[in-house]
Amino acid sequence: MAPDASDPELRISASSIRLRKAGVPVVCLTAYTYPVARLLDDHVDLLLVGDSVAMVLHGHETTLGASLEMMIAHGQAVMRGSARACVVVDMPAGSYEATPRQAVASARRIVNETGCQAVKLEGGVTVARQIAAIVAAGIPVMGHIGLQPQSVASDGGYRIKGRTQENVAALYRDAEAVEKAGAFSVVIEGTVETVAADLTRQISIPTIGIGASGDCDGQILVIDDMVGLTVDRVPKFVKQYADLRSVISQAAASYAAEVRSRTFPGPNHVFSAAADKNKA
Ligand code: KIV
Repeated sequence: MAPDASDPELRISASSIRLRKAGVPVVCLTAYTYPVARLLDDHVDLLLVGDSVAMVLHGHETTLGASLEMMIAHGQAVMRGSARACVVVDMPAGSYEATPRQAVASARRIVNETGCQAVKLEGGVTVARQIAAIVAAGIPVMGHIGLQPQSVASDGGYRIKGRTQENVAALYRDAEAVEKAGAFSVVIEGTVETVAADLTRQISIPTIGIGASGDCDGQILVIDDMVGLTVDRVPKFVKQYADLRSVISQAAASYAAEVRSRTFPGPNHVFSAAADKNKA
């Protein structure tokens, strides 16, 4: 049976995630589709419809391939497939950076068209006004500092943050800016372990680590990476808990062999003329 996605009483709210500072770690995963949301909903506190969907499901080179329409379509699917988790939808590059007004309009569209609990956007000091404006419009915001995939081109690649003094100083400024602007939590990605742990101690909102520190207030991974579905190389910080690529590949090989040898479909997979055996 499909979950009752429409009952707001069942949902973990952004404000209850905000209260999880220094408590039981917040369990987060990305989800992009209805069936995966249904599988994950019982196990996690928060589902992120990340703009990584552009790479993971749509085959784009970077997350810059994500559009507002793409994020909304996947956000709707994840909301239909979940009833419990706090669902956060990423704001794609180009939908918020220009002005606070643009950011509020895009965030409103995402929330109105998906029913999600919050939006996430990348950046610290440079987007603090956008975060404050979205929060003032009544929409909870999750920040994202450290390695920011939307900026990899301008950054010269996927570079770990916190290895130089000026980098560390910028991270502290970003964390503080996001907190002050009113975000309910912040993702820290690809950041030196000790720096991520110290940032976690310095700010009052929960930090969600990915390639950061076990001391963060929660953790997030990209679902396809952690179940072994990602075809390309996965980052060092990913732990693979399953090998679904092998499972799917073996299933496809067995199916192909049985079709070629005419052993599939067998007697159980076809319909006889008897009326009571006509159910699909
Ligand atoms: O887009 C995404 O999946 C993300 C997570 C990696 C945090 O931003």
